[in-house]
This record gives sequence, structure tokens and C-alpha cells, in this order.
Amino acid sequence: KKIGVLMGGLSAEREVSLKSGAAVLATLKAKGYRAVGIDVSRDLPGQLAADGIEIAFVALHGRFGEDGSVQGVLELMGIPYTGSGVLASALAIDKVFSKIVFRSAGLTVAPYQVLRRGEKRPLSFALPAVVKPAREGSSVGVSIVKDPANMDAALDEAFRYDHQVLVERFIDGREVQVGILDGTALGAIEIVPKNEFYDFEAKYTPGMADHILPARLPSPIYAEVLKAGEVAHAALSCDGYSRVDFLVTEAGEAYILEVNTLPGMTDLSLLPEIARGAGIDFPELIERILLGSGL
Ligand code: DAL
Ligand code: MG
Repeated sequence: KKIGVLMGGLSAEREVSLKSGAAVLATLKAKGYRAVGIDVSRDLPGQLAADGIEIAFVALHGRFGEDGSVQGVLELMGIPYTGSGVLASALAIDKVFSKIVFRSAGLTVAPYQVLRRGEKRPLSFALPAVVKPAREGSSVGVSIVKDPANMDAALDEAFRYDHQVLVERFIDGREVQVGILDGTALGAIEIVPKNEFYDFEAKYTPGMADHILPARLPSPIYAEVLKAGEVAHAALSCDGYSRVDFLVTEAGEAYILEVNTLPGMTDLSLLPEIARGAGIDFPELIERILLGSGL
């Protein structure tokens, strides 16, 4: 069957997705699959038809790709695809709705407030706070606010990307990410960014963040974080694979940040690194994701 690797697209994470897509495409070709790359445009149905695509490997990130919209087009066209479906994708990309689901699943979330454009409300918790657009990836539009004088600029920046913005209490903890494959946690990696937090630059510039695998957590906490990753993945009804991000405090409390239904597949990406630590190399990871789509 002919596989279309969907990449690039219309989101703020376009460049990241082009790298993920290139890595996936090269791997599929090296494994002998018939695969082509498709830089997703608003005429995705036309693109898929022109190339005779029978199965889609989704390597998009962010809006119009990780948010259920492309998955909806693929459902409508009857083309099987990798990863999560419409509902899980739409829930996971939305940090407001995913928090509601996480809470109801018994996971710990940071205190937060949701603001719509133009809305002003006093904070219900003390600074510092993290300001983020409701639906973005790669920390696009995210700032940490310590001084109230900087709040308006942080809100303006986040509102560039979405009409809903989340203001969360800053959690002082280790950044720990859990890799999930076929619903099971493969391991947890710790990120020590050289910047103030694991921002866009720290995510994609070699040397700007140290990766520590396995994460330096006492073993009962490590096990709890893995379990919390699996619970979050299942609670959002995700399929196949994901990467679940946490902040873990010194006291061992794991605050869930989000589930990434289409985690990065670039050279510096974490899910491939976690998988490698579990004895699954990149080609095997890609093949297992593909087979999970029902090829
Ligand atoms: N949003 C980026 C691609 C990630 O989660 O890896
Ligand atoms: Mg994300």
C-alpha cells in the first residue's frame, strides 16, 4: 500500500514537522515501504487523491494536524492513519479541556485560570505564573511571568496564537516526559534546559538542554509517573503512541502538563530517545506506529 507521510502544514510548528516528516519518510523508504511526503495544504483531499495515498502517516504538529482536523478529513475519506483519532487529538491539543479530563481521571494539575481575548480578571493564585495559548505546541507563545508589570505583554504574546489563554501557577519542578507506545509507558526522560524553561530554542537547538534517561526520580515516584502517563493517555482516549509531559516537584508530586498525540520525531526528540532506552530503535518505533494504524 502507498503511504503518505503528512508533514509541514499550516501550524506554527511547521518547520519542526518538516523535520519529523523527513525522518519518518527516510525510515519508511529504507524499510522498503512505498512512501511519499506530502506537505499538507488546505486541499488535503486533492493532494491525497493525486498521489493515490492509501494510508497516512501523520507527522504534523500543532494546529491543523495534531488537533483532530486532519484526522477528520482522513476519516471522511476512509484513509487509515497513524496515531490518535479525532476526539483524542482535539482534547489533547486543548490545554483547557485536557485539564478537565486529567482532573476527572485523578491526575494532579497546576491551579489555573482561563482568559478569553479582552477579558481581565485578578489572578486566583500568586505569581510566578506561566502564560500559554490554549492550543499550541513546542512552547510557542509561552512565557513565565514573575513581575505583574510583565503580565500584559505575556498575554498579548499568547493571544497571538489562540483566542483562549491559560494562566497557570508556576510549578517549580523537574521536567519529566513519559513515552507511550501501544498504551504502555516505555520510560521517563528528564530534561534540564539551559534556558529558564524548556522553550522553543531549548527544544530544537543542539546543546541547549540535557536529556537524562531514566529521569532522576526515586523509584516509587518514577513508577507513579509512568502510571500517570498511561492514565492520561487512556483518559483522553489516545491511540497508538504519545508523549506525556510532567513537572515533578522535590516533594515527588507529579503535575501533568499535557499529552502530545503527535510528539516530535526529529534528531533531538524525546519519544525516539525514550524508545531507544527501552530497546526500540527509531525504525522499529516507526514500524510499530505504522502497524498500529491497521495497515
Ligand atoms: N510539539 C512537539 C513537536 C513535541 O511535543 O514534541
Ligand atoms: Mg505539546
